[in-house]
Amino acid sequence: MLHWRRQAADAPLHFVPTMGALHAGHQSLIRRAAAISTGRTPRVLVSVFVNPLQFGPSEDFDHYPRTLAADAELAAAAGAEALFAPSVAELYPDGDAELTRLQPPASLQRGLCGARRPGHFDGVAAVVARLLGLIRPDALLLGEQDWQQLVILRRVVVDLGLPVQVIGCRTQREADGLALSSRNRYLTAEQRQQAAALPRALMATRQQRSATPSQLMAQVVAELASAGLVVDYVEAVDPHSLQPAAQLRGLTLLAAAAHCGPSRLIDHVFLMSRQPIIAIDGPAGAGKSTVTRAFAEQLGLIYLDTGAMYRAVTWLVQRSGADPSDAHAVAAQLENLNLELSTSAHGAQRVSVNGHDVTDAIRSPEVTGQVSVVAAHGCVREALTRQQQAMGERGGLVAEGRDIGTAVFPDADLKVFLTATVAERARRRARDLQQRGFAVPDLSELEAQIAERDHLDSTRAVAPLTQAADAVEVVTDGMAIAAVIERLVSLFRARVPEDAWPG
Ligand code: PAF
Repeated sequence: MLHWRRQAADAPLHFVPTMGALHAGHQSLIRRAAAISTGRTPRVLVSVFVNPLQFGPSEDFDHYPRTLAADAELAAAAGAEALFAPSVAELYPDGDAELTRLQPPASLQRGLCGARRPGHFDGVAAVVARLLGLIRPDALLLGEQDWQQLVILRRVVVDLGLPVQVIGCRTQREADGLALSSRNRYLTAEQRQQAAALPRALMATRQQRSATPSQLMAQVVAELASAGLVVDYVEAVDPHSLQPAAQLRGLTLLAAAAHCGPSRLIDHVFLMSRQPIIAIDGPAGAGKSTVTRAFAEQLGLIYLDTGAMYRAVTWLVQRSGADPSDAHAVAAQLENLNLELSTSAHGAQRVSVNGHDVTDAIRSPEVTGQVSVVAAHGCVREALTRQQQAMGERGGLVAEGRDIGTAVFPDADLKVFLTATVAERARRRARDLQQRGFAVPDLSELEAQIAERDHLDSTRAVAPLTQAADAVEVVTDGMAIAAVIERLVSLFRARVPEDAWPG
């Protein structure tokens, strides 16, 4: 392993752990691992190891399908460079009794499969940590199908500070919805048909928007039983804490396990009370607009540039000749305000206020110089917050601004505080002004302006710029735009699974 690892050691290494009996679901993970590119072509390593530590005494360890030759072919065909298939003696040389064990938090194991398979996730954590230590990959790819496993392994990686990015990938399904699994091969043709009742029953709950979690659970139990499956559990939980969900708010995981003939099948569905909302806050000049726009596009979300809305009001105030610091005069401009954001055929955002297209005008240094003053008025914030919340009612958007996570969408699925040092932001501002043909002041002057703007934004009485307690801080100094976008996508994916929002 070490020898193989040393070859082409500078190429990123992407790792797909499996227990073998590879199928199209594994192949899609391998393909994905090969396709993720950060500028350099990655090498993909697949492990095949039927891990005794994660099987209970009455489970199928002895009969688990072992098809190494076919696995090697399928892995290679999907783009794997190497297959690592250690024996139990190689992986646990002193026996499993002498192996350092890990115990992921009990809170994550109390429900779902953890409750029915005691010790299972301790065994999974032990083997994956051991494999990560040996292989030291840059990325670890796991299927979302084993959602509890994914949540637990993400936690293990964070708690042990392992330098690996965990990437969860969408569940792969047969045409009738059955999730691909190595254990499907135990099914007879008749059982195979019966098994499709599991995804069908779960998917049907998506239509019932007014039901409670317990009503949905009871409905799935009844449907599985009537299809002849033996229900192990049906549970509705918060997808991150895995604690029981009392109501359907935000994202809820409805997961089930059932026996169908010799196989124990698991599956889940994500119920969304609204589409995802992402809040991206941060100081001026941190590069929020560029990355947020690209991030929104990549994930199929609407981009809401709230800064442009404040700029449009500033433009209107300046055009009217009113004093931007006079709250009454500014309030008068808000009467009959008609502010619209739209997307042109080329994907660019257009901003219009009271019928004027101000897309370019709101980027002038004059507007930049006074937007903080106008945005600090309570009447302006109230009017625009109301409009932003109305735009976000159905979700499906990324909003960027100063108070999105704190005031506009406090229940956003992901909150990011995107920032950079004053010096870095001054350099970026200079570059931007130059590119757009404006005069470029000294860097020291730009730094002073930016520091002053930070001060105004963070000390104003109404909705000051502050980092929400539950926001993730991303400092973008020295990061290329693509790297920032990649970081945002990875943060988003840790909160909103592909199964819920393929993007
Ligand atoms: O999901 C699996 O196949 C296994 O649990 C894993 C992650 C390979 C660990 O043995």
